[in-house]
Amino acid sequence: AEVMADENVASRGGAGPEEQERAPGQEAAPREHPNLSKRQMKKLRKQQKWEEERELRKQKRKDRKQQRRLQRQRQAKEEEEEQEANGGRKRPRREAAPSSLRLVVDCSFDDLMLMKDVRKLHKQIQRCYAINRRAAHPVQFYVTSLGGQLKQSMDEKDKGWVNWKDMSFRAEHYSQLVAKEELVYLTSDSPNLLQQLDLHKVYVIGGLVDHNHHKGLTFQRAEEGGIQHAQLPLSTFVRMNSRKVLAVNHVFEIILEYLEKGSWEEAFFSILPQRKGAVAVAAAPPGGGGDSTPEAEPILHPPEQRP
Ligand SMILES: C[S@@+](CC[C@H](N)C(=O)[O-])C[C@H]1O[C@@H](n2cnc3c(N)ncnc32)[C@H](O)[C@@H]1O
Repeated sequence: AEVMADENVASRGGAGPEEQERAPGQEAAPREHPNLSKRQMKKLRKQQKWEEERELRKQKRKDRKQQRRLQRQRQAKEEEEEQEANGGRKRPRREAAPSSLRLVVDCSFDDLMLMKDVRKLHKQIQRCYAINRRAAHPVQFYVTSLGGQLKQSMDEKDKGWVNWKDMSFRAEHYSQLVAKEELVYLTSDSPNLLQQLDLHKVYVIGGLVDHNHHKGLTFQRAEEGGIQHAQLPLSTFVRMNSRKVLAVNHVFEIILEYLEKGSWEEAFFSILPQRKGAVAVAAAPPGGGGDSTPEAEPILHPPEQRP
């Protein structure tokens, strides 16, 4: 089913309605259908199995969430103890090893948005900033084409933005700042699958909250500008019950997580909001899944360029 992109800064919780479930691992008696062919029966059994394991998957998701919560609590406690031992002085949250990767949020779509969506974009950028500040490998973060309603929102709602550290706000379009050959536009409509990040490239995220009204716009712009483009390799690792158009902050967070873990799969599962219904490709139901994009071509980079 097609749903809108996650355009609010989304929490990672908040899955859909509770489901009526049987106990974990409890199997339903296989239903026999005398009129079905062997192949159809096999498919049906697979589907039944998929249904039966729903509760287990749900439990696994809960466990992962719980693990993350515990990890955060442990970290907060350690920081507190460290701070006490340090005579009350705060220390940086963790040792950061900055990445040389450059990530741009292209805000040249300002006139296509209503103020309420510009405010959402503003929140998403705030979230990117906060995440980058805490990241193990913070990227070189740029916001380009800053002006119009977005600047107005920032001036009104968050005057402190002028003091944000380790990031660059520019009024210029990214094409005025970076050579064309260095650019890769990230867009879900690209036929190219991003396999690895190339630290010599500049990755661009479209600063757009459009509720799918401007489908394919960033792809079109990249094509017109003769810029390389790629989509995140979501379809290689996850099946989702919705479209694979993500919000700016989710794309940003996935990239940071990939830089830390070196695995797209891990990055997708820890960042994708639960309502996207992401499940591992290997565990996806037979013939099911929301992503019907045709096979995309991989962009391959030599392994030594991996972060
Ligand atoms: C809400 S989307 C905007 C969708 C818009 N209709 C477009 O044409 O890109 C915000 C941005 O996140 C990035 N993005 C979202 N999903 C992506 C995906 N699956 N792969 C790569 N980039 C993605 C793109 O840069 C996109 O412009």
